[in-house]
Order: sequence, then structure tokens, then C-alpha cells
Amino acid sequence: MNTILAIIIALATSVNSLGVRSLIVNGKGGGHVAIGFHLAETLSLDQGHQVTILQNDDVDFTQTPFNAYANLPSNVQIVMKSFDSTFSYPFKDLEFDFVFDNNSKDPTGPVESALLKSNPCKQRYTFVGSAGIYEKPDSLPHNSPLNESMPINTKKPAAQFEAALSSTSIPHILFRCQYIYGPLCSKNYLDYFTYRIKNMLPLPIPSPGTQIASLTDVRDVAYQLSCVCTSLPPTGSIFNTGTFNDLKHSYVDIAEMIGDGLNKTPDVKLIDPEIKTDFPFRAKEFFVKSDKSVKEFDNFGGGEKKLKNYIPEIISSFDARDPTVDTSKDSVAISA
Ligand SMILES: *[C@@H]1O[C@H](CO)[C@@H](O)[C@H](O)[C@H]1NC(C)=O
Ligand SMILES: *[C@@H]1O[C@H](CO)[C@@H](O)[C@H](O)[C@H]1NC(C)=O
Repeated sequence: MNTILAIIIALATSVNSLGVRSLIVNGKGGGHVAIGFHLAETLSLDQGHQVTILQNDDVDFTQTPFNAYANLPSNVQIVMKSFDSTFSYPFKDLEFDFVFDNNSKDPTGPVESALLKSNPCKQRYTFVGSAGIYEKPDSLPHNSPLNESMPINTKKPAAQFEAALSSTSIPHILFRCQYIYGPLCSKNYLDYFTYRIKNMLPLPIPSPGTQIASLTDVRDVAYQLSCVCTSLPPTGSIFNTGTFNDLKHSYVDIAEMIGDGLNKTPDVKLIDPEIKTDFPFRAKEFFVKSDKSVKEFDNFGGGEKKLKNYIPEIISSFDARDPTVDTSKDSVAISA
């Protein structure tokens, strides 16, 4: 009896959720465009949504993550469009429940203005922006994270889009992300560390090396974003992305963790933070606090794994890609 009841409930739920439609607006890239792929997977597999990815067609479809689109579940539809001045909103007769926008910048741009005008969703419009808009006050002591009430630089395009979206009647949520790594990400921040440690080269790190970084696996970010659909946070809510349990890693800790994974001791050289190198994070400490979404979302526990537990995967991805990392700036930085 219980089993039959469970099946009936499961069927009813799946029929119901099949009706939920989500739109993911995906831009050209930068290092973080893989969010759209993982989000499409999470929304379609975990929540049974019918997902449409509106993809800027001016990308190289032989490159990650675009070359993996064919592996997405069958209830994910990809619509490719030119995002130039000829753009017109292609879904005028379709209302989505949720929109996830990982494209918009200048609100007067062709895609941005079309989206803002067309009021494309019933439930929540989630803008996936960047923590790069925070203006860290000089008065903030070392090792204090940036929370959602920090001042922002209103001149930055992502901040302008946030303001434009907030001035509409569209129910919306604003996310601000920082350094994202993991499968299909085209920017591999940690290669800087892995390459040098693996090849036993000196590892320049901007002094003092105790700066904390907020690094998040892209699958955790996608899951965190998808929780908007189940938690329906109040319109206007702002969240940093990130894994709650994992905000304790300084630049030197990260080197040591990767060193442990490679069974090698990193040869850390603390360098003058003013010297320009290829170091992947800011020389000045800049990291976000991300426990707000853990507190306010019903089912976001703060990420699946800690960075330490992702290290074996990070190393095998490095080995599979076997990237050449330019270390030509290192010796000047180290001897300065
Ligand atoms: C997409 O989201 C990522 C993560 O926040 C961000 O770095 C990137 O700037 C966003 N892309 C666009 C085109 O807005
Ligand atoms: C945000 O951080 C500032 C500076 O550390 C602090 O004064 C403020 O109370 C924090 N706000 C929240 C909501 O945590």
C-alpha cells in the first residue's frame, strides 16, 4: 500500500514538475560559462524542469563547455542566437517559470534590454553576476570576508544590470560569484599551482600568502543557484555564491593541499604583491562570505565537498589536459 502510494505521489510530482520551464541565458564565456551546463543538468535531472539554454552563437563549439552540450539530458533544448544588435527575444509566446541570466552586463545592450522588456518569467529571474562589483573598504581588517551588504562599484556593467533589473517589476534574485573551478570550466585557476608543484618549480605567491580565497566547485554553484526554484527567496534578495564550510584556505594553504595531493612539497616564494605575475587571484585579499544562502535556502547545505576532497579530481584533470603553463615572469618576481 505504502509503495503504491509512493509511486502515485512520485508520478504526480513528476507530471507536475515537468510543467516547470526554465531558461538559462548563456553568454560567450570567460572562465565561468560552464555554470550554464551544470545548471541545465541540475534543473533537468534533479528538479525535472524543461530547460532551454539560450546560447550566444558567437562561440567555438569545439571548446568546453559547448562541446559537451550534446551530453545534456533530452529535456534540455539549446537555442542559438546571435547576441548582436539584430537580436530579438525568441520566446515571446512562451512564459518561463525561472530565468537564470549568466550573460547580461550593460542593461542597454540588445539582449539585456530585450530580456528586461519582455518580462520573461513568472517566478524568479536570477541574475548570475560577479563579486567583482564589491568595493572592499580599506578599513576592513585582514581575513574579513565581503558580505552582501558591502558597498559596490555602481559603474561596473554587472552592477548596472542589477540596478536595472531591480527597477523593474520582475521578481528577481541577485547572485555574486567568485573563483569557480571544476569540470568543463575553461579557466583553470589552480593550474598555476599544480604545474609548478608537479614540476618542482618555485611557486611565487604574493606576500603575505595568508590572503584567503573563496573557491567554489562549479557543480556546487549550479546546485546553489537551482535552490532558488525550491526556496523562492524574496524578490530583491542578494547572495554570494560559495561553499559555506570551505572558507578557510589561504593562498599558501591551497599550495600545500595541492602539494599533498601530488606528494610533493611546494617551494613557495613570497613575492612583492605589487609585482605583476600570472598569479590567478588578486594580490590583495578579496573573498566573500557565503553562509547567507545556507541559512536562507531550504536545501543548500553549503556544497558537497571541501576543496581538499576535490584535489584528486583537480590533479587528474590537470594530468589529462597536460597544459603548458608560462612561468617566464617567475624569476624576475622572485629575485625582485
Ligand atoms: C557568469 O557568471 C560568472 C560567475 O559569477 C561570472 O564570473 C561571469 O561574469 C558571468 N558571465 C557574464 C557574461 O555575465
Ligand atoms: C557585513 O560585514 C560588515 C563588515 O565586516 C559588518 O559590519 C556587517 O555586520 C556584516 N553584515 C552582515 C549581514 O553580516
